[in-house]
Amino acid sequence: MLACLLATTLAATFVHAHLAPWHKGMYGLNGVTGSINYNTDDVVHPLYQLPQDQWWFHGYNGVPNFPPADGDFLELPAGKSFMVEIASNRGETTLSFDGDYTTDWPDGQNYPDDYNVDTCITSPNMHTQNETRAAGTAFAISYTSDIKQVTPANLIVFTVRYHTPWKRVTYYDVPADMPACPAGGCICGWGWVPNGCGQPNMYHLPYRCKVTGATSTKAVGTPKPPVWCENNPDGCTKGPKQMIYWNQNEGNNIQVDGLDAAGEPKSPAYNAKCGFPDGAQNDIFTGASSGSSSGSGSSDSSGSSGSTTNTKATSSSSSSSSNTNIDVDTGAKKVAVSGSSSSSAAAAAASASGSAKHVCKTRKARRAEAAERERRSEAFSMHRKRSARGF
Ligand SMILES: *[C@@H]1O[C@H](CO)[C@@H](O)[C@H](O)[C@H]1NC(C)=O
Repeated sequence: MLACLLATTLAATFVHAHLAPWHKGMYGLNGVTGSINYNTDDVVHPLYQLPQDQWWFHGYNGVPNFPPADGDFLELPAGKSFMVEIASNRGETTLSFDGDYTTDWPDGQNYPDDYNVDTCITSPNMHTQNETRAAGTAFAISYTSDIKQVTPANLIVFTVRYHTPWKRVTYYDVPADMPACPAGGCICGWGWVPNGCGQPNMYHLPYRCKVTGATSTKAVGTPKPPVWCENNPDGCTKGPKQMIYWNQNEGNNIQVDGLDAAGEPKSPAYNAKCGFPDGAQNDIFTGASSGSSSGSGSSDSSGSSGSTTNTKATSSSSSSSSNTNIDVDTGAKKVAVSGSSSSSAAAAAASASGSAKHVCKTRKARRAEAAERERRSEAFSMHRKRSARGF
């Protein structure tokens, strides 16, 4: 029975899954319901055309309200590397079921090393045709322990990994000069802006992190927004850079138009096209050389900044309404969504009209909506299987 339920859940996630780096130091490890969900995928959903408080750290479904357990940090060893597991569901990482459902790939399945689909890989949903085309991902750091103090102006990209997301186990390099964090740790962010292959969305997630083995006291500087500088290195933003914020309704920090050198619509990303070298970003230490950093003052309270029940209720209801928009990813998916039942259409209408009623949803209603999402994803799976046979 349990195995059967698990299999069903995992099968459903294979199809609509996007990707996120899993680690015990992440926010939202257990999901956003308040109980532990070993099969959660609450953090993997893409962010597209949202107001700032909804895209920032995946606020639309309350991820920032679910900190990691006390004492759990993403550890960043100065001058060395750290590992995260990029996957579409916690159930496909070693953080659940002793890793029984893991493979080399993010969705617990197996593919050839030179996995390539001219029409884009959709399983898992990597937003790329192959490894070479994978856009690149990044981690950024803010020298505060309080997630509420983190803003685009103090969240600095410190490491980039070209050609990711790709396989599950992914390493990022830490600059040797990273100074130590405040006693309560730092807040890190992960970002991914895919290069085409579906909705031009982005991914932005929070982590509690700390630098280990720090020997330097050079502080990180104030970051500037990256700019598009493909084949024009002199035009790139030098020194510390902000994360890329793109295609949202508010808070974008980069604008592009026209085509890139490959003749595709420009899509800013954590790679050379926006002036990010692969690996540790060693040019970010332009701040005053003080104790630990120029970051905003912070207390040691991050470890105990538990979830706030009030915001949780509000955010999880906005989650379900946002999902209606956010999950519409490919042409195929649109078909599945428009073919879904009237209750999700009603949810979409309520969300579109911004109905205040919609904000205070009962637990039962939220459960019903979750079930509805599940049905939709299964419908999408069937649709895709039919489409796949058609190719
Ligand atoms: C990756 O995909 C692109 C776009 O389809 C293609 O031009 C390129 O040849 C592919 N590279 C590999 C190594 O398959």
